[in-house]
Amino acid sequence: MTTCAVVGLQWGDEGKGKVVDLLANQVAHVARAQGGNNAGHTIVERGKEFRFHLVPSGILYPHTKCYIGGGTVLDPASFLGEIEGLKQHGIVNMEKRLMISAYAHVVFPYHWRIDTLLERAKGEGAVGTTGRGIGPCYTDKVSRCGLRMADLVDADFFGAKLERALTLKNQELEKLYGEPPFDFLPLFEEYSLYAEKLRPFVGPVEECLYRASQNKENILFEGAQGALLDVTFGSYPFVTSSQTLAGGIASGLGIGPSRIHKVLGVVKAYTTRVGHGPLPTELKEHELAHFPDHGASRELGTTTGRKRRIGWLDTLLLRHTICINGVDQLAIMKLDILDGLDEIKICVGYKQCTRFPATLEALKEVEPIYEIHPGWKQSTKQVRDFSDLPRQAKAYVKRIEELCEIPAVLISVGPDREQTIRLGGEVR
Ligand code: GDP
Ligand code: IMO
Ligand code: MG
Repeated sequence: MTTCAVVGLQWGDEGKGKVVDLLANQVAHVARAQGGNNAGHTIVERGKEFRFHLVPSGILYPHTKCYIGGGTVLDPASFLGEIEGLKQHGIVNMEKRLMISAYAHVVFPYHWRIDTLLERAKGEGAVGTTGRGIGPCYTDKVSRCGLRMADLVDADFFGAKLERALTLKNQELEKLYGEPPFDFLPLFEEYSLYAEKLRPFVGPVEECLYRASQNKENILFEGAQGALLDVTFGSYPFVTSSQTLAGGIASGLGIGPSRIHKVLGVVKAYTTRVGHGPLPTELKEHELAHFPDHGASRELGTTTGRKRRIGWLDTLLLRHTICINGVDQLAIMKLDILDGLDEIKICVGYKQCTRFPATLEALKEVEPIYEIHPGWKQSTKQVRDFSDLPRQAKAYVKRIEELCEIPAVLISVGPDREQTIRLGGEVR
């Protein structure tokens, strides 16, 4: 029996979607534990691109069962839109193999509005959120005034619960922000229609995963965001609002921690960040000029289309995120993006400190210590075997393993499923 958590070790967008898709053909179940449609996971299958926001990336295989856990926040319109898009691509029977936990919280339009208003109110300190209402929805969850899927699909009580929540939210909108309130009736009608469509998907996710693990079936846990966006251990306050670490998988899915057998950490061969906050190894203007532009490197947010900021690989940061996730193995993604560079830098430490700093002020001040590695100046996109990689690329990968003190089991050299090098160790 093996279960594996796939988690991002940087600031998100490491390529988790591709990794989950790659491994999903060997598993029976794929589950998302946290986050919402702030996530954007891309899969390219023989040139055809799929972008997932809420639906687990395992859905493309007809044999996998997919789950959206109680620790997630679900925007009904976004979820139903995603389902519709998948149907148009011939992915059918989803009611039978995609289950949403009754405990997942529901995102409402007032969450989007408050997301925007709070960002505006923060001014210079704005987080640069995706604007999907994620933070305000999690805020309501812990303030105990949110609505869960179980509440949405219960026609007898939904109206009363929405009215109660809306009264509080309208007070916030009017008194705190001087904004117009939401009318109850149109919101109630809109969400009652969603409830009809969502009802067939709601089910006992927790029990299904428990049974699956008792029966020793393979389960893949699909992380969203990345370790440095974790609300507790990330680069606070420039983080998301959920537990993005491997530890969050147990609480987000309602499974016991002993059911997670392996943690696969996904890293880009460099670093990116979308949204605000420090990025210690951010490329200088002249370095950026040699880097494939955002269009070519696909460093545009999958969810918002914003440009991702780019930095060199930071292994001090990785040692920290490997530690807080208990990562066993690495998947190194987007090695091909470095193909054309004359030289490549790896940050091996910071001048000011030996540990990843806890405060923003300290993180802003750090100066990276770099090792400079020669580039390979040739395409790796067609390579499928580690031994066929250029000598310098092999040395780059080996140095990453050395600095991180754990082995890589996957190297990705292009967005397509096929563009993957599998290394010796068993991946699952
Ligand atoms: P996720 O959020 O971690 O699933 O990552 P995203 O899908 O948001 O962003 C990763 C982007 O890089 C997507 O456009 C992928 O198709 C693409 N990608 C993934 N792996 C590779 C790779 O090895 N090489 C290249 N060139 N692109 C990749
Ligand atoms: P995946 O799963 C990259 C970032 C936002 C912002 C911060 C807070 O595709 O890796 P939020 O809307 O969550 O309140 O925004 O977190 N962010 C992500 N960045 N990838 C993601 O998901 C992200 N999800 C949120 O850009 O800086
Ligand atoms: Mg993404």
